[in-house]
Amino acid sequence: MNKIKIFCPATIANLNCGFDVLGLCLEGIGDEMIISKTAEKGIRITKITGADLPLETEKNVAGVAALAIVNTANPDCGFEIEIHKKIKAGSGIGSSSASAAGAVFGINELLGRPFTRHELVDFAMKGEALASGCEHADNVAPCILGGFTLVRGYNPLDVIKIQSPSELFAVVLHPQIELKTSDSRAVLPNAVPLKDTITQCGNLGGFIAGLYTSDYALIGRSLQDVIIEPHRQKLIPGFENAKNAALDAGALGAGISGAGPSIFALCRSQEKAEKVAYAMSSSYLDIGIDFDMHVSKINDEGVKIM
Ligand code: HSE
Repeated sequence: MNKIKIFCPATIANLNCGFDVLGLCLEGIGDEMIISKTAEKGIRITKITGADLPLETEKNVAGVAALAIVNTANPDCGFEIEIHKKIKAGSGIGSSSASAAGAVFGINELLGRPFTRHELVDFAMKGEALASGCEHADNVAPCILGGFTLVRGYNPLDVIKIQSPSELFAVVLHPQIELKTSDSRAVLPNAVPLKDTITQCGNLGGFIAGLYTSDYALIGRSLQDVIIEPHRQKLIPGFENAKNAALDAGALGAGISGAGPSIFALCRSQEKAEKVAYAMSSSYLDIGIDFDMHVSKINDEGVKIM
């Protein structure tokens, strides 16, 4: 195999109670990449469509992630990468992670899979760091592993995949404005009150227990964010109305997707998710910003060959 085409899915990070540690993988929304082996060593990005991103390897998230895996594997060949972006940069649904994850997954496949999917998360995280200014795996891990992922620890990286309860659906409202992850991180405080940390720990534990036991009510009441949302919500026009509309329409919970500006909701059943999507979009009509809506099952597979 010398050339492959890959689907790199979008993801939702944080999920209210798991800043930088929780994420899930979406279905149907994602980038495409074509990766080819070359006789000449090194990484070359030959084409990018759908976004104005640098072709220089060291300045591109996919290029940096590709260099991380190649520098470790040290293969006797090089790689050319084509990136076809469908996920807009600065959308809050893992645009940079999709590129980083696609690059390392594709190269690993072309090398005959020397690394496990879990090991690929570490390489992809190096690319993600270029986009956000810090290494975090809560988008790259679900993109590579599928389902829900929990980063139990970063040093060393310890990622746990959790299968989604079968009736869970995600709704995403994506306002067509760009919010850079680095800007969205800049508004966060350096220290957090102990009482908020206790609330967040309880919710994170409750959320994970809810996933393992398919307890939808427990998942719902754990979807609270007392640490990040109060600081970031002011960066997202119409956030509070859209969140309240989702909850009033029967969502289990709702909040900021990743670093924003996308707003997500989790719902029990596709029917409920469609109803929630309708309510969220109705709440957004008067904001004066174009937006996309997505309703998606949780994607258990992650990045894949097309
Ligand atoms: N956990 C990250 C953040 C996700 O919220 O800043 C965005 O890439």
